[in-house]
Amino acid sequence: MASKPIIIPDNNNNYSIEQLSVPTHYREYLSNVMIPRGLIKDRIEKLAQEIHEDYQDKSIHLVCVLKGGEKIFADLTNSLHTLNSRYGQKSIPITHDFIKASSYINTQTSGSVNVSTDHKQLESLKDKHILLVEDIIDTGKTIVALKEIISKHNPKSLKVISLLIKRINHSNGFVPDYCGFSIPNEFVVGYCLDYNEHFRDLQHICVLNTLGKNSFKA
Ligand code: IMP
Repeated sequence: MASKPIIIPDNNNNYSIEQLSVPTHYREYLSNVMIPRGLIKDRIEKLAQEIHEDYQDKSIHLVCVLKGGEKIFADLTNSLHTLNSRYGQKSIPITHDFIKASSYINTQTSGSVNVSTDHKQLESLKDKHILLVEDIIDTGKTIVALKEIISKHNPKSLKVISLLIKRINHSNGFVPDYCGFSIPNEFVVGYCLDYNEHFRDLQHICVLNTLGKNSFKA
């Protein structure tokens, strides 16, 4: 059974840039740290335990949604591998693949979702237990588009893990099967989440400020 996401409250300014280790070249562009990397890693470990229990007697095919899903994918697979090698625990075969999706320009969705993949790759998903690994669900359009494409190729099952879900009014209502954190409607960067390809190498999830939005505008 999946646990509920940790709720990050609105106007949460608990962690200031000065109190945590943030690279100097990014500091002026961020208003605060929303989720420190330690908490992210801990939460992913917990989600990995839940996934490990839910997929007993099955094998999982993780499909990482690039580029933003890369970090959660890496931490999740590491945690699953650790669980697999623990004495006494039943182990689960894990395979993986990557798919690329993009829809954002600056802080806005362009409305159309571009998915780059090939037919052969999609055909190989047939009869597998697919777990799509996403970074963030905002309007929900990207994940719904991806699920539609994958469903057409007859996987045995299809579930979604997303590190974040944004609380917004114009969401399509999509709820992931596993989710790390429910966050306020702010544009966040770090932990592989980007703003026009910048900030992916930031370790914490941080809120981008106005100077950041203006300085790295497309
Ligand atoms: P959706 O289709 O509106 O749900 O948007 C999902 C995609 O938009 C994610 O995979 C991200 O690439 C991007 N995105 C949405 N919100 C943010 C954000 O706050 N920071 C960085 N990327 C975001």
